Amino acid sequence: MSALEGRRILLGISGGIAAYKSAYLCRRLKDHGADVWVSMTKHATQFITTLTMETVSERDVLVEMFPKDKYVGTRHIDISDWTELAIIAPATANLIGRYANGLADDLLTTLLISMTCPVLICPAMNTDMWNHPAVQQNMKALRDRGVHFADPGSGILACKTVGIGRMAEPDDIVTVAETLFQTAHVNDLEGQHIVVTAGPTRERIDPVRYLSNYSSGKMGYAIADAALKRGAKVTLISGPTALTPPTGVDFIPVETAEEMHAAAVARFSSCQAAIATAAVSDWRVSSPSTNKLPKADGPPTIELTANPDILAALGERKSPHQYLVGFSLETDPKRLVSTDKLTSKNLDLLVANNPMTAGSEFGGDTNEAILVDRSNDGDELGLLSKRDLAHRILDRVAAHVATAAAAAAQTRTT
Ligand code: C5P
Repeated sequence: MSALEGRRILLGISGGIAAYKSAYLCRRLKDHGADVWVSMTKHATQFITTLTMETVSERDVLVEMFPKDKYVGTRHIDISDWTELAIIAPATANLIGRYANGLADDLLTTLLISMTCPVLICPAMNTDMWNHPAVQQNMKALRDRGVHFADPGSGILACKTVGIGRMAEPDDIVTVAETLFQTAHVNDLEGQHIVVTAGPTRERIDPVRYLSNYSSGKMGYAIADAALKRGAKVTLISGPTALTPPTGVDFIPVETAEEMHAAAVARFSSCQAAIATAAVSDWRVSSPSTNKLPKADGPPTIELTANPDILAALGERKSPHQYLVGFSLETDPKRLVSTDKLTSKNLDLLVANNPMTAGSEFGGDTNEAILVDRSNDGDELGLLSKRDLAHRILDRVAAHVATAAAAAAQTRTT
């Protein structure tokens, strides 16, 4: 059986001559059992008709943002929710630029900006356009955000020049799409609710000063984004960061450890997994001043009180079907792999990392982590991007979810 069997694919077509191949691509996707819904830009309809695409896809074709005599409502969100994989073929320089910059000035770009599922871009353009720094920069921005590419090939182009820019062949695009469904874990967390804590907390000293730490929140936001892309419902409880929450998360901004504790505990019972990446301040100021402490009074003596341990509180409340992941930051390599925290906080998985290791510094985009559970001495993952590490952690969550589902099914049949 093809990995595309029963999958819901949005095929986006923008205005380039390679659009003539999109009908064949659609047909091949359908041959593999996919349900394909086509969205075309106005320019694309100059190259291939909506009638052609309607006939091969066996669905209405989405072009107009506000079609006459049709109920519109929030259909861009409904269609995005329906989509498990979006393939944009061909993707012109213009479409790539609009998508990279978050523009939503027609239906296809509006759909793209509201999608949380994986997106596969199949560029097609003249070699000079492909090499233009603006186009390269836009593609880099999209790749950095986790968008997938089926890169163009070289050959004779419509402009009679020879060079890079020919859209990948439809059969190769189908193969890439199949691989994505097999390896990008499309929707393997569908129906699961995952709570993620992220970022630092701030503990007030007075109305203008606080105690905090260097956490950027990038790891937690990467996990939230990856979980969304794998079909989960995600609650992201975050201390103050400079990051934009991924589209589609239930975002709960908090400031202090006590606020994060209340938010996490309130949502824990409804989730299948919680992943605590937050760098929670261990202490708060016992009696924050309501007025700014005057400098003229000299350096204050600040008394501190221990904050609640959020992760331990979740561990106490954990049911057998729930999966709990904690992070462990140690600067002493000898303390890095320890199962103490696993047992003391009732965790299923501990992600141990050392911010003194090259590549694992605060605020970076990479992390070298060891995954420790009760069955092993630590799985050393080596240096990974935070996005890849997020997926490796979510693989563990997905495996737990699958085992729990199989056990539940077994109980029902016996
Ligand atoms: O005990 P330690 O602070 O090393 O544990 C780190 C883990 O515990 C992280 O996952 C962090 O998010 C979580 N934690 C927490 N609440 C605290 C302290 C840490 O949730 N007050």
